Order: sequence, then structure tokens, then C-alpha cells
Amino acid sequence: MKRTLIAGLCALILGAVPAGAQWGPRTIPEPTDGLKDAYKDYFKIGVAVNNRNVAEPDQIKVVLREFNSITAENAMKPQPTEPRKGEFNWEDADKIANFCREHGIKMRGHTLMWHSQIGTWMYQDEKGNLLPKEEFYANMKHHIQAIVNRYKDIVYCWDVVNEAVADSPVYPGRPELRNSPMYQIAGEEFIYKAFEYAHEADPNALLFYNDYNDAEPAKSQRIFNLVKRMKDAGVPVDGIGMQAHYNVYGPSMEEVDNAIKLYSTIVKHIHLTELDIRVNEDMGGGLRFNRGGANVADWERTLQQDQYVNLFKVLRKHKDVIDCVTFWNVSDKDSWLGAANYPLLFDENYKPKQSYTAVKGFDPKMDNFVIKEDFKPSELNQPGQEYPMVNSQGFARFKVNAPKAKSVIVSLGLGGSGGTVLRKAEDGSWMGTTAGPMDEGFHYYHLTIDGGVFNDPGTHNYYGSTRWESGIEIPAHDADFYAMKNVPHGKVQQVLFWSKSTNQNRVAWVYTPPQYDQNKKKYPVLYLQHGWGENEYAWWNQGHANLIMDNLIAAGKIEPFIIVMTYGMTNEGFRPGQMPRPAARPEGAPAGGPGRPGGAPAGAPGGAPQARPARPAGGMGMMMNNGFEAVLCDELVPYIDANFRTIAKKESRAMAGLSMGGMETHTITLARPEMFGYYGLLSGGTYNPDEIAAVGESPKTVKGIFVGCGSKEGPDQIRKAAADLQAAGYNAKGYVSEGTAHEFLTWRRCLYEMAPMLFKK
Ligand code: XIL
Repeated sequence: MKRTLIAGLCALILGAVPAGAQWGPRTIPEPTDGLKDAYKDYFKIGVAVNNRNVAEPDQIKVVLREFNSITAENAMKPQPTEPRKGEFNWEDADKIANFCREHGIKMRGHTLMWHSQIGTWMYQDEKGNLLPKEEFYANMKHHIQAIVNRYKDIVYCWDVVNEAVADSPVYPGRPELRNSPMYQIAGEEFIYKAFEYAHEADPNALLFYNDYNDAEPAKSQRIFNLVKRMKDAGVPVDGIGMQAHYNVYGPSMEEVDNAIKLYSTIVKHIHLTELDIRVNEDMGGGLRFNRGGANVADWERTLQQDQYVNLFKVLRKHKDVIDCVTFWNVSDKDSWLGAANYPLLFDENYKPKQSYTAVKGFDPKMDNFVIKEDFKPSELNQPGQEYPMVNSQGFARFKVNAPKAKSVIVSLGLGGSGGTVLRKAEDGSWMGTTAGPMDEGFHYYHLTIDGGVFNDPGTHNYYGSTRWESGIEIPAHDADFYAMKNVPHGKVQQVLFWSKSTNQNRVAWVYTPPQYDQNKKKYPVLYLQHGWGENEYAWWNQGHANLIMDNLIAAGKIEPFIIVMTYGMTNEGFRPGQMPRPAARPEGAPAGGPGRPGGAPAGAPGGAPQARPARPAGGMGMMMNNGFEAVLCDELVPYIDANFRTIAKKESRAMAGLSMGGMETHTITLARPEMFGYYGLLSGGTYNPDEIAAVGESPKTVKGIFVGCGSKEGPDQIRKAAADLQAAGYNAKGYVSEGTAHEFLTWRRCLYEMAPMLFKK
């Protein structure tokens, strides 16, 4: 799947420069509605707020757009509301409650009884001795009822008791509950009493027990046990609050699913009360504040997005019992964990992250999608390798052995998700299936293991994205036109030609049709260029140009011709005797761009060296204007005409290219109008009649023009360009490949569609 840079290049080539094209986090346009709207058929979406969030206009805007349940982050806790016995301080709590009253948003009350953020007067005397039980209960009752009464009109549920269950491990014979001062005074009974006092004050409020590490199997069992004992004792407990302070590595979605299932056997209401997902390994209730701005790598963003997306999928599945999901803070700027933990869906500037778009943009159809278990090894696998696999619906399944890894991401998946995050299996292997069906055809990919980039040892490698990457083929319904069949085959041979302008030997691959060696005929020639990040292997290796030609010739659909494929850049600095290889990303483009991290170990076939010389500065301009015109027109064409039986004239010479190769084709055909009679741009821009006329050409001298692209690449420009050219009298063909993007199936099909129009007599 293509990422920002590739999409950017593609848009650039097709003529539309995307406004937000950049490396790193994507800029997401200001939403017009919120998470609460996307989830209106599922559950409320809540948020914990501080005073600034309900006072600053920009923040208010986000709160009101996104959320329909509000929790006071701190203002309703025991200590802030009653710092000293009988001295109430309602200022902050009132501000938030009044904001909610003004906007008609009901509140989750948080929290009545907690061992933290509580005045010690509640449970001990001035000397620090624990109070007698009755006095503690009187304090508790007075506090709980004062606050519940005050906010009855606006608070629809309360976290009555918070974090009273012991953390793991609990050794045999030890209490399942936290050894807090309250527990020491009254044992488990203080929990029951808190619920009774709250219920007495507001019989309509839903009352929750709230805790963290809520999906950890052992602790969730203890939480369940407590609530079960409460129920058995007739305590008015309505729900369980799962704080959901998670991280990108855990809990697993099986654990979350199991916990929800367990809790739902004992309560009718489950809320996620304090959701955030950190990009480090901390979890639960402990505060690990991490100062400073977020400096999060793309792969970490992918892990976070995956965790959020999968979590919400599980939550949607349990919408019967889950009725509110509250984020703990509005944005990373507000987060109790600090922006460097990158925990929320809004960044430190209150801008939505890619995880926001993914959580909001779920496809309900996919929630119940049944994946067919008819997976077969991908046809591009190395000998004997079972994985990756593909199924008949276009899903891909990956398996990678990396027993000590913490995360394994495959750079393929649904658009926007940035990849498929694999999960560790018992045997230490990592497995995962794409979240949805993929486009038919060939895809490059790589693995990101704990931030390092590797190829999948299961597959062959294909040069793309300026490195030899893994490849996978999702069988296309029309694969027959490039299938290897029992028909006469042409040859693809390597030629080395001396290039004076670059002072080096250069490589070209030359396809000669099946009949070439059996006759003395002369043939027309198509010069066919690869795209940015690819090289001269691409067209016959992953493009199957030779097989497409063999099949077309066998079917009598085309005039046989030669194809010449060479490397289309001149700045790679390769030395004689070495294979030419494209260099790393242009300087100035930061490493680790979306899905295309730099500095990756690249496995090259044939033991070729992995290090690549850096491509000189200059970016796209440098790539495009790199002396290739001279190599092609003054060196390669004469070499081919001298060494192959070609018809060495304009009407029998075509140039075409995909993506950047299309840009080169556009430039070179117009710069050397005397050389090429046919032009082809494959996801590589368009021609207009004026620019052709400006170089003195006309429908008489240009024999044919082909423009094509995938239906997912903005095909309107292609259709319009073809129509304009036809209207101006050109033999022009526009072609749109259905259901494909900026990838090789588009270009295989383009070649198949273009070939019959070339060199027609
Ligand atoms: C946190 C607040 O976000 C912080 O501002 C405060 O300093 C400490 O408490 N579990 C809870 C919340 O139930 O009340 C905590 O909130 C986070 C952990």
C-alpha cells in the first residue's frame, strides 16, 4: 500500500499537489462532527475535563463537538471537594457542572471513595491513628451524601469506590483487596457502605465500582469476585468501570474481550472510564508523567492506532453492556501522562491524530465480516515457505518468527492504518491478518520489528521504494493476461552499454519477441521506464512485461515489438562492474517517513551489497532532470539500433513510463520530438494538445498517445486528457484500471491496453 510520499508523488505526477503532503503525522482536516456522532448507535463517548477545557473557546469547541458525557478529572474527588472535615470547596466542581448544565451534557461522577486524593481526616485523627469504624463511616456518609446531593441533577452515574482491589500478584492467603487505611479500618464493608450512602442520596444514579488493570486476567477475576460478593450481599452496585489506562503493547484484545464477558455476567453496565493508550510499556493507574513534546515514530503511531481500532471493535461488539467510553483528558496536552506518552486521539495542539480518523471511520460491515479460511501461500513466496498467505477474499495473513520482539508490523493493511500489527503466538511466532481485503495485484511490503525495518524471509524481493522489498501477490481476477502459459516465449536479456555522458557502464534489459531469433525481420521498439524507487528490473520482474507481450503475440492481438527497460536516473554513482542501484531517499526527506523508513537493512538478491550511495540533494527536481535524456536518446537508442534488428525511425519507436517514468516520458518525448512516434503515460500525468503543438508536432506526426491510471488515483484527469487529445485529432487512448491504485496491477493492465495501439500499420 502506498504511503504519504508515494501518494504525494503520484498526486504530483497527476498534477494535483496535495496540500498536506508531508512526512510524519498526517494533517487531518478539522472534523465537522465528532466521535459521539460516529458512535451514536453504540455508546456515549465521554471525556475527563479540567477547568481550562471548559473555559478556553478552542478547547470548548472540541469538547462540545466530540463528546456527550463529561467527567471532572479531579474536581469532584474527595480531597478537592472536602480538603478538611466539613469544609467544602465546590468552586472547580461547580464550574464543570455548570458548563454541563449549560450545554445539557450529563456527567459521570468521579469519585466518592479512593485511597488517593483524599483528605486524611476522613480516616485518621490528628495524631495519625486510624479512626474508629463508626467515625470513619460518619465522615464518609457526610462527604458522599453532600456531593451526591449537590450534583444529582447533572450526574447520571458515580464511580463510588475507586481502586480498592489489590494489584497482581496476590499471594495465597493474602486479601484480594488493597490494604488501604479504609480497608484496615473496616475491611471490605467500607465499600458496601459507600454504595449504600450514595444510593440513599440519589436512588436514580447508576453506581460503579472502578479500577485499573481491568483486563489483566487475575485482577479482573478479583474485581469480578468483589462485585459478586457485593451483589450477593444486596449492595446497590450497577456497573463496573474499566479505567482502561492501556498501552500499545497491551492488554491483548482477547483479554479485554474476556474481561468484558466476565463483568457482563454480574453487571448490566460497563463503562470504560479513563481510556488512554500510551506508546510505552507503562500500564494501569501509576502516573508516569513524561514531559516534553511527543517524539513518536511512525511505527509507534501505527501500534497505537491498531490498539485503538481493535479496542473499539471489541467495544462495539459489546454495545449491549457497554454504554459509555470516556477518554482520560481531551488532548495529549492535558493528559495526566504528559504529551510525550502520546496517549489520546487529539495531539498537544488539539488536532486529531490518524488514530482519531481510524476510530471514527470504522466500517460497521467489517465488524461481522467472516474471513474465509481458504488461505494459500502467496505465489511470490520463497521455495517451501508457507507464509505470507492470501485467501480468496483478498486478505493476507503473515507469520514471522521473532521470539524476543516486542512488536512486529507488516507495512500492508487497510488504507490509513499504516499496516498490519502482528500478535505473538504461544510458540514465539508473530501472526496477523490484514484488517480488510487488499487490492488485487502486486504489493511491496516490509516488516518493522521494534522499529527496525526488515524484509519478510518468506518472500522473494522486488526493487521498490529504493530498496529490495518483500512482495506479495493478491490473485487478480484477470491474472490470465500476464500468466505464464504454454505459448512461445520471448527473451529478456541483459545488455551493458557504455554511457559517455555518465562515464560508466549502464544496464538495460531487452525483451525480444518469440519470433525474433527465427527470422531476419526488423522490429519496432518501446522504451519502457519504471517509477521512482524502482529500477530496471521492475517491468519484467514484478511487471511481467515479457509475459504480457508473449500472451498478446500468441493471441495475435499486437504487432510484435522489442521492449527496452533501463534505469531511469543518472545520479546513482555506480561504478563499472557493479549493478547500478538507485540510492536512498533524497536528502532533506527525513528518514523513517510513513511506511518507508530509511537506513533499513536491505536484503538484495545475489548477495549484492546492501549499502547504497546517497542520492545527491535536489529532491524530485534532481531525480527528474538528471541527464537521463542524454543517456536514453544519445546513448541507449543508438546502441539498441546498432545491436538489435530495429526499425530505427520515429514511427517505430515509442516511449512510455509509469509514475516518475511517465514524467520522464513526458519531458523527453517533447524535448526530442524527432525520436518517438508513440507516447505512453502510466499513472504518470497527461499531455495536452497545446504543449505538443508548441514543439511542432501534430496528430500527423504523433502516431499514438496512451494515458492511463488506476481508478483509485483520480482518474478524471486521465479521462479528460484523452478526450481533449481525441478532440484535437490525436489517436489517443485513455484507460482506467478498475479497483487499483498506484501499483503494479494498474501498470500491467496499462501495458496490456497500450500495446495493441502501438506500431499499427
Ligand atoms: C489522575 C488525574 O488525571 C491527575 O490530574 C491527578 O494528579 C491524579 O489523578 N485513576 C483514576 C483517576 O481513577 O482519578 C486518576 O486521575 C488517574 C488514575
